[in-house]
Amino acid sequence: AFIITDPCIGVKDASCVEVCPVDCIHTTDEADQYYIDPEVCIDCGACQPECPVSAIYEEDEVPEEFQASIKRNADFFKQ
Ligand code: F3S
Repeated sequence: AFIITDPCIGVKDASCVEVCPVDCIHTTDEADQYYIDPEVCIDCGACQPECPVSAIYEEDEVPEEFQASIKRNADFFKQ
């Protein structure tokens, strides 16, 4: 699945949400970023080029400094 990382924090541009064909990108009023539901994401990659702050990566390509985003994403969908 794709992971949304730190650059999304406080930006929440949501351009990614508009292009997602399976509506798997979610947030809440309390959350400071959007998250991609790994159970629903079909790995199409449509969201990645849409993000103006380049926050979206394939899970195995998440840069070292954004590794914490992977767990944060998983935790969001456990709630
Ligand atoms: Fe965030 Fe970029 Fe989407 S800022 S909401 S990942 S378009």
